[in-house]
Amino acid sequence: MKVLIIGSGGREHAIAKKILSSPKVSAVYCAMGNPGMEKDGIQTVAIQEDNHPELIEFAQEQEITWTFVGPEVPLLNGLVDDFQAAGLMVFGPNKQAAMIEGSKEFAKEIMVNNQIPTAAYKSFTDYEEAVAYVKEQGAPIVIKADGLAAGKGVTVAMTLDEALAALKEMMTDLKFGASGSKVVVEEFLEGEEFSLLAFVRNEEVYPMVISQDHKRAYDQDKGPNTGGMGAYSPVPQISETTVQEAIDKVLHPAASGMVENGTPFTGILYAGLISTKEGPKVIEFNARFGDPETQVVLPRMASDLAVIIDDLLEGKQPELKWKENAAVGVVVAAEGYPASYKKGMAIPDVAGEINVYYAGVTGESEQLTASGGRVFLVEAEADTIEAAQAKVYQALESVDTTDFFYRNDIGDKSKR
Ligand code: AMP
Ligand code: GLY
Repeated sequence: MKVLIIGSGGREHAIAKKILSSPKVSAVYCAMGNPGMEKDGIQTVAIQEDNHPELIEFAQEQEITWTFVGPEVPLLNGLVDDFQAAGLMVFGPNKQAAMIEGSKEFAKEIMVNNQIPTAAYKSFTDYEEAVAYVKEQGAPIVIKADGLAAGKGVTVAMTLDEALAALKEMMTDLKFGASGSKVVVEEFLEGEEFSLLAFVRNEEVYPMVISQDHKRAYDQDKGPNTGGMGAYSPVPQISETTVQEAIDKVLHPAASGMVENGTPFTGILYAGLISTKEGPKVIEFNARFGDPETQVVLPRMASDLAVIIDDLLEGKQPELKWKENAAVGVVVAAEGYPASYKKGMAIPDVAGEINVYYAGVTGESEQLTASGGRVFLVEAEADTIEAAQAKVYQALESVDTTDFFYRNDIGDKSKR
């Protein structure tokens, strides 16, 4: 098989590396990819992810067996629809199905219509009405911009003032552009967060092992929200019963609900969950693999990812097996991230029994320099979370923290 991956981050690096490890795969291309991926034998392709005609031409000329779409933007732009219209095999939801991530309101309707446990909510297009509702509900309360806001369109307001400021920013100052003209006001859920991802083909659901992301920039969940500073898997403090409840009450009804809605979903469905006193509740759905969750989930997969996707595309029953180990991944970010950050620093060599997944890097594969906020992620597997943490943090000692920073507590929540 020859495989094309769309995307350029650490998530795509992990997907591409896992697929390339399959004995059935002869080549993996990644568009645009990044030069760090080339260290692992992944071939990068200089075609932008919104250039659908050139991507289609590339897939046809190179006789790509199938294409896998990593990020949400090309999914919502209908890349899957365009590949299918060109008669090409592609794994991912079409434009309509990707709305489960693209519109919070669409996602909430699917949840309400299928009795999927989630926070109570109301959506607003009128600023005054939203203000009145928030005042009536009081804090803590959660304000979300409808539509994609690159992970930054969510305010968890602990006070009424914070909530009102967020509404003003989103609805009148249009800080997140048009995606803020409609907001969802949501009940605050208390409990531990976890991510449950699954391969979905219409009604069929094949869950993966769970993981936990760390969204805040600094140790002890301090500082601003980011795209994710690290993750680990398994999440032992979330019980098997809770995971099973999430599979039964969230993933299955979501998949069948999408079919009934006339928007059947095939691809990776990601449920962001909070384990509350009343059981797991959804905070968001994504139509793709999570970043950085993928970098700790895929290394634990004992089966062949290329075969799983191929089976799903061929209408066959895929077989998923998992290792009984643990994986920890720590993001190394550029000083200043998530606000304006430093660029152009040389990427340090990180040695040890670890994997490095590159994201915000540029230059030549032998001489990488930093170009993005989240620069790379260091991941290790071991029998326990503690042992995996030890490998990662030992390797990270060689990173000069004047230009870079990372969290020192990824995985610690598993010990509380
Ligand atoms: P999101 O960008 O939707 O992943 O949200 C960012 C973060 O806000 C999540 O990772 C949660 O920590 C938090 N969050 C979102 N919705 C809620 C909610 N209803 N209750 C409590 N926390 C939430
Ligand atoms: N790690 C969160 C996300 O991928 O949306």
